[in-house]
Amino acid sequence: MNNTILSIKDIKKKYFTKSGEITAIDNISLDINEGEFIAIVGPSGCGKSTLLSILSGLIDKSSGEIIYPNQSKKKLGYMLQQDCLFPWLNILDNCLIGLKIEKNLTKEKKERVIKLLELYGLKDFIYKYPKNLSGGMRQRVV
Ligand SMILES: Nc1ncnc2c1ncn2[C@@H]1O[C@H](COP(=O)(O)OP(=O)(O)O)[C@@H](O)[C@H]1O
Ligand SMILES: [Mg+2]
Repeated sequence: MNNTILSIKDIKKKYFTKSGEITAIDNISLDINEGEFIAIVGPSGCGKSTLLSILSGLIDKSSGEIIYPNQSKKKLGYMLQQDCLFPWLNILDNCLIGLKIEKNLTKEKKERVIKLLELYGLKDFIYKYPKNLSGGMRQRVV
């Protein structure tokens, strides 16, 4: 039997703008099973980013349900099309900015971030700036 890890039920999303209401997603339902690779394909503007932003908690849905059958709540991230690195900060400082803002930066956490950057093959770029990195490298920083 399939082990469903994420169940999306009748998700709907409306954006409200000055010029009116846009239905970006209309009743999407989908089950994702363990080990599956799923591609969501469609023309520009059909709602792919909207769905991913809802799943990762960046924006709210208008209606519907997101169910993780095995866990009550799960953290889900996704790789944005455009990275949001600050051009005036080096790679390490870009990675530490969240912790700094939260006043949650410790020596141990900084060391862990450096270890992760090394793990992702960015050891020689820690003190470089985003403009010195390729698109793929920038995405690995994100
Ligand atoms: N923040 C927003 N405010 C208003 N409308 C939006 C916003 N984001 C996306 N849309 C609209 O929602 C629809 C789906 O957009 P999007 O999810 O970005 O599509 P895709 O990623 O498939 O190209 C489009 O019509 C787009 O114009
Ligand atoms: Mg998109």
